[in-house]
Amino acid sequence: MLVLGIESSCDETALALVDDSGVRASVISSQADIHALFGGVVPELASREHARLIGPLLDSLLAQAGLGPDPWTKIDRIAVTRGPGLMGSLLVGVAFAKSLALAHDIPLIGVNHLHGHLLAAGLENDIAWPALGVLISGGHTHLYRMASPTQMEVLGKTIDDAAGEACDKFAKMAGLPYPGGALLDALGKRGKADARLFPRPYTQNDNLDFSFSGLKTAGSLWLSQHPEARFPAGETPARERLGLASQELCDAAASYLLAVAETLTIKARRAMQVFKPRCLIVAGGVAANSVVHQEFSRLAEERRIPLLIPKLSLCGDNAVMIARAGWHMAQAGRAHDLSLSAIPRGQTIPEDWREMA
Ligand code: KG4
Ligand code: ZN
Repeated sequence: MLVLGIESSCDETALALVDDSGVRASVISSQADIHALFGGVVPELASREHARLIGPLLDSLLAQAGLGPDPWTKIDRIAVTRGPGLMGSLLVGVAFAKSLALAHDIPLIGVNHLHGHLLAAGLENDIAWPALGVLISGGHTHLYRMASPTQMEVLGKTIDDAAGEACDKFAKMAGLPYPGGALLDALGKRGKADARLFPRPYTQNDNLDFSFSGLKTAGSLWLSQHPEARFPAGETPARERLGLASQELCDAAASYLLAVAETLTIKARRAMQVFKPRCLIVAGGVAANSVVHQEFSRLAEERRIPLLIPKLSLCGDNAVMIARAGWHMAQAGRAHDLSLSAIPRGQTIPEDWREMA
């Protein structure tokens, strides 16, 4: 079964073709450089860019896949991110997917973006069910009990900032450009973590939710007390100036990332008391972080279960994960009507699929 996946929930426009054996073709265009000029994603600019790029990207994808003169006879399903995300951005992908589905008479599947992130972990390794899913991105921090590829229950989530947001905000306050998570990671690798420097917020309770706002405040306080540690301003891209960062900032970055990672593992360890997972999945943009990787490896080893993290190129937003999640839904006989709606962040995604005959 060949599935076309379409992703446009935030600032990446991406399309991919996935079949039973894996990825057939994949294209992606990131708008990060455009939004970096404004210090964060500007929704109106994001939707305009998606609308401008989605058609040409489809042409490149089909050329890359080499499906012959009539590719649409070979594509079995069209899967699209329906949410959560920015409404204007989601609408571009959903409307595009619907028109392709209608024009070529191909069943449509609406995918939950967060499920896509988690299921990307199954592309290179088999997932042992049930799995504990830790979804950590720029907008979300969710713990999931994953009973199967199509049965996922949220056990806990952030009540304020997401893990990625906490990294991006500290990076921004330290003088790094948006999105600073990966740059903070690079600085942290050159620093020495002090486990007492920052708190593990919202862990002195018995629930599975997260709150990163206290950590952000502690980070802001530290930076106001150490103004000389800030990243030096300059004309050349920050990536090329990373070597100029103060040792103090590198140490603080390492300590801050350790606080983020340990806050996540404290709750993940607690979730393992609710059910016994046979595997641990960590996905989303922040799963690319080296300290997060190290702390979750430790947890998985302690529990003697495998740790699955999607490969780096599939940690951030991409369409391969959407096509893969759509492929799983198709295997379960699910599809959506052309009335499929886009669901913005903060709203529950309805289980409104239909069973295919
Ligand atoms: O999943 P994703 O690409 O987009 C969303 O759906 O949000 O995640 C983006 C987030 C950003 O906050 C970015 O700074 C963070 O992932 N990120 C990282 C790293 N790479 C990306 N955070 C920490 N360390 C990294 N290496
Ligand atoms: Zn994402």
